[in-house]
Amino acid sequence: MTVPTRPAEPAAAAPAGKPAAAPAEQPAATPAEQPAATPAYFTLTEEEIVAKFPTRLRGYDLLRSLGSPKYIVAPMVDQSELAWRMLSRRYGAQLCYTPMFHAKMFGDAQQKYFEEQWQTNEADRPLVVQFCANDPAALLAAARRIAGEASAVDLNLGCPQHIARRGRYGSFLMEEWDLVGRLIRTLHEELAVPVTAKIRVFPDVAKTVAYAQMVEAAGAQIITVHGRVREQKGHKTGLADWAQIRAVKEAVRVPVFANGNILYFEDIQRCLDATAADGVMSAETNLYNPALFSGKVLPTWQLAQEYLEICREVPTKSAYIRGHLFKLFRYSLPVHTDLRQRLVEARSVDEFAACVDALQTRLAADAAALTPPFDPDNVQVDEFGYRRYPHWICQPALRFEHDKEHSSSKRLLNEALATPAPADQAPDSSGDAKRPRTTDSS
Ligand SMILES: Cc1cc2nc3c(=O)[nH]c(=O)nc-3n(C[C@H](O)[C@H](O)[C@H](O)COP(=O)(O)O)c2cc1C
Repeated sequence: MTVPTRPAEPAAAAPAGKPAAAPAEQPAATPAEQPAATPAYFTLTEEEIVAKFPTRLRGYDLLRSLGSPKYIVAPMVDQSELAWRMLSRRYGAQLCYTPMFHAKMFGDAQQKYFEEQWQTNEADRPLVVQFCANDPAALLAAARRIAGEASAVDLNLGCPQHIARRGRYGSFLMEEWDLVGRLIRTLHEELAVPVTAKIRVFPDVAKTVAYAQMVEAAGAQIITVHGRVREQKGHKTGLADWAQIRAVKEAVRVPVFANGNILYFEDIQRCLDATAADGVMSAETNLYNPALFSGKVLPTWQLAQEYLEICREVPTKSAYIRGHLFKLFRYSLPVHTDLRQRLVEARSVDEFAACVDALQTRLAADAAALTPPFDPDNVQVDEFGYRRYPHWICQPALRFEHDKEHSSSKRLLNEALATPAPADQAPDSSGDAKRPRTTDSS
């Protein structure tokens, strides 16, 4: 099926004057052939919006004002908190998203939620603040609370979790195009900072493209495309479809960020080449390897200690800290099982730091015992292209798609990761595309 294409030159989000076509209802299979219609929820023209917010940036001007970021930390509930963003920025992240906040609770002055959740500082820029919502007025009220500190406000249209189904937000709005359009349009017409959106793909690329065009026409100034369908979650996560991301990139005029399938630093350029996207967003691999965007191969304890130093300055919930440390030490805790319980019981930064110091001693001993010593420039790669790092090195979490394979493959993998690679195996760090790379995703 052919999909509509955009002009080659990047341009502003939408031309002044009449807004671009935006289907108010979910279209049939041939969106390109549908007549252009202005949805009823467009109350202002682009000219009127520009006049209302003359300095607010659009499309590629917005992207340039953000520093044309290629390396982007994804929104992650309970995990892309301020302390983690600060760590990620030290290691090459050029743009960070906050965790998703619930617009209704965030905008409600009676609730403690805002104070509990909202955290930023002057160094925490550029920053995109993400919300989930199904009520335009609530979204606007929430966005206004933080507009002064946000580079842009993002709408989550990708969350596939049960809670999102019950709450009617995230990817469960993919059947409610009119509501999605209204949510975005309300911010575009009323908010002093630009609105952006993060979407998932449909199984049908033409529908994905039509959806992205509707999101763009409503006013989104950057679109992040997570190249997985809604059903790809948990053990069904599988691969993101970069071809779909490319189709969106070719069909819209606003910048596009690609999301999905990043395990190693080299994957970022592969993703940029394959999708033609303007930047690459990483979620899960950033959690397991916060140095991902630096291209450096570093020991887990170093990143853990640095993170905890940041947590001494920036109050951080112990649940978030524990979550991060469990991920960083994912491959070491099965080796040093006694320290696992200490990590479960730790409450204060000092207690977490004591655990990490103990782990450092153990892991440094493991590293010293390895012969030949680990050489980051000479990493072995398995038949699927997974790199065989020792357990104390920051590395992506690997999962396999099918339950049957899962248990045995994962066990073998863990063994391989905990044991030094045979010296006679040919070194290759090319990040071969044939590996069945899967990560979990929300
Ligand atoms: C712990 C965790 C929390 C997440 N929370 C959010 C969120 O708040 N908002 C959102 O749009 N996506 C969220 N996601 C999804 C990611 O932003 C991203 O789209 C997905 O994980 C695919 O990227 P990846 O392959 O780099 O992991 C979350 C993912 C993870 C692993």
